[in-house]
Amino acid sequence: MDRKPETGNRVLVETEDGTFTARSSLFDECYHSTRDGALKESLKKHVEPAFSLIGNRQSGNGKRGLTILDICFGLGYNTLATLYHLDREGLDIPVHILSPEFDEALVRSLVDFPYPEVFAPYRNVIESVAEKGRYENGKIRIDVIFGDAREFLNTTDAVFDIVYQDAFSPKKNPLLWTKEYFADLACHLTPEAVVTTYSSATPVRMGMVENGLYVYEPPAEGVRSGTIASPSPDLPLKPIDMALKKVRNPSAAPLDDKDFK
Ligand SMILES: C[S@@+](CC[C@H](N)C(=O)[O-])C[C@H]1O[C@@H](n2cnc3c(N)ncnc32)[C@H](O)[C@@H]1O
Repeated sequence: MDRKPETGNRVLVETEDGTFTARSSLFDECYHSTRDGALKESLKKHVEPAFSLIGNRQSGNGKRGLTILDICFGLGYNTLATLYHLDREGLDIPVHILSPEFDEALVRSLVDFPYPEVFAPYRNVIESVAEKGRYENGKIRIDVIFGDAREFLNTTDAVFDIVYQDAFSPKKNPLLWTKEYFADLACHLTPEAVVTTYSSATPVRMGMVENGLYVYEPPAEGVRSGTIASPSPDLPLKPIDMALKKVRNPSAAPLDDKDFK
């Protein structure tokens, strides 16, 4: 891996697909899987599975378009990959992306980030987000909410069609993976919502299931496995048998806020 020093507390890291991520010294973790690749992870674990499951249907609220929760903005790959996917597939759907992020300095610095070439058309988007925390063009609206993601979930009345659950790992960033977190998240999902994540950890899946979500194996697309979750029992994916996981690992339990506060 080719590492380069970065200003502040981050170091740029080149990933296996040739795109760059960064390493957070605060969380002692990279923003993306270096083995899967930053762009590939974003497209294959989040954006493509979500859109293939959701199709181009309108949101469940009777309003046109899709509302997406990007947990959390970080380097903005998931948001930018969504714009790339919409353009590449010719999807003419109004999309509103809401993305909490408590590292405001990171977002402000993204104008200098060495994004992959496929994000070049969205230079104006990243400039607007870095400067104002938002972007709007009539079809696409992006709001980065500077602050804590848990607080955002407790105060917003938004309902989401898609959630990119992409916090740092459950070990390093547990408060965005607890059963209480998923309880809050479940209140903001349409009945057919799709939650994508790179985590396949049993405690994470148990936290989802405890809050009424069904968990599924994601489509295998050349990246390491994760989980798809939804309030819908009818997604066209292989369901994960959590009862069997519990038999195999009787001491497994969802993460609990009280252990981390
Ligand atoms: C793995 S990175 C997200 C990567 C991002 N999805 C991307 O594609 O570039 C996790 C992000 O979550 C942010 N974060 C962690 N805990 C948070 C919290 N409680 N509230 C808001 N942001 C948080 C971190 O600052 C970091 O930017």
